[in-house]
Amino acid sequence: MVPISVDYYYNGFQIYSSMATYRKFIFVCTGKDCKRNGCKELLKDIKGMLKVSEHKGKCKVVKTKCMDFCKTGPMVVINSEVIKRASLPEIREKC
Ligand code: FES
Repeated sequence: MVPISVDYYYNGFQIYSSMATYRKFIFVCTGKDCKRNGCKELLKDIKGMLKVSEHKGKCKVVKTKCMDFCKTGPMVVINSEVIKRASLPEIREKC
């Protein structure tokens, strides 16, 4: 039997615990142009969706500043995927 150090167990626990709490991050731009294009309402809808649907606890919403796609707002990024003119059904599909 190969001896396993305490360090291994500790790191193993860390890996396990970070996997257990893995969540998708939904970055929503709250810059000036995206506000004009309805990001506040979208943000409210996303938070509502995360409270009641099967996505509960699986996603985390993060408000961001301008992501430099102002003309195509509201801007959302989910797992490095940019969604221009984001809508709730599209976000629900990607989550
Ligand atoms: S204001 Fe949202 S991308 Fe610039």
